[in-house]
Amino acid sequence: MSNHETKSGFSHEKIETNNFLMIALILFTVAFGGLVEIVPLFFQKSTTEPITGLKPYTALELAGRDIYEREGCYNCHSQMIRPFRAETLRYGHYSVAGEFVYDHPFQWGSKRTGPDLHRVGGKYSDEWHRIHLTNPRDLVPESIMPAYPWLEKTPVDADAMAPNMRALRRVGVPYTDAEIAGAAAEVKGKTELDAMIAYLQILGIHLK
Ligand code: HEC
Repeated sequence: MSNHETKSGFSHEKIETNNFLMIALILFTVAFGGLVEIVPLFFQKSTTEPITGLKPYTALELAGRDIYEREGCYNCHSQMIRPFRAETLRYGHYSVAGEFVYDHPFQWGSKRTGPDLHRVGGKYSDEWHRIHLTNPRDLVPESIMPAYPWLEKTPVDADAMAPNMRALRRVGVPYTDAEIAGAAAEVKGKTELDAMIAYLQILGIHLK
């Protein structure tokens, strides 16, 4: 007689020899573990309340943020400073959840072909960004960042701003009716470059 006498009931062998059961139970375990970690964050004040001084993006900053997403800047830049010495020495205070409550979607990322941008606000002048975005090599000769020369030639889509802000209000960004009504006028005559710079210049400045 063999030593491998099968026990009756729900033995581990049953799981390990049944692909479907194995996959289903792994998925269940991982999903449960994930939920236990994530769900409490929806109810914690430190992750759901804005830090003091944080304001929703103005129409111009928001337009810049949309262009940041459109151009895929997040493919090379993260916006998330981790709480390690090497990071805080280079970039400044590590990022905290309360800084991102008005961000839909987040731009945290993990791909850093270029530097993290979460505290780039105020680091350079507007003029620096103007030159850098139009051709990075004019300021950083060895830069591999693409040039975005069309930004200074393209006007901001003013009509898109009010619907955009109304949509954000639905997910909890506290825009007032007056802000939404004035959005088109605020970005009128501005270029996409102006909007991008406005956005970059307020990144991470509320927590110093
Ligand atoms: C192919 C990767 C790549 C893409 C895409 C990219 N960048 Fe960069 N970026 C870099 C690299 C590399 C640097 C560092 C060299 C330099 O300053 O040009 C950099 C530097 C920067 C800096 C200066 C950061 C600092 O602290 O010195 C800013 C600001 C910036 N990028 C903004 C943007 C924006 C806005 C976009 C989208 C319109 C963008 N980047 C797209 C690679 C990229």
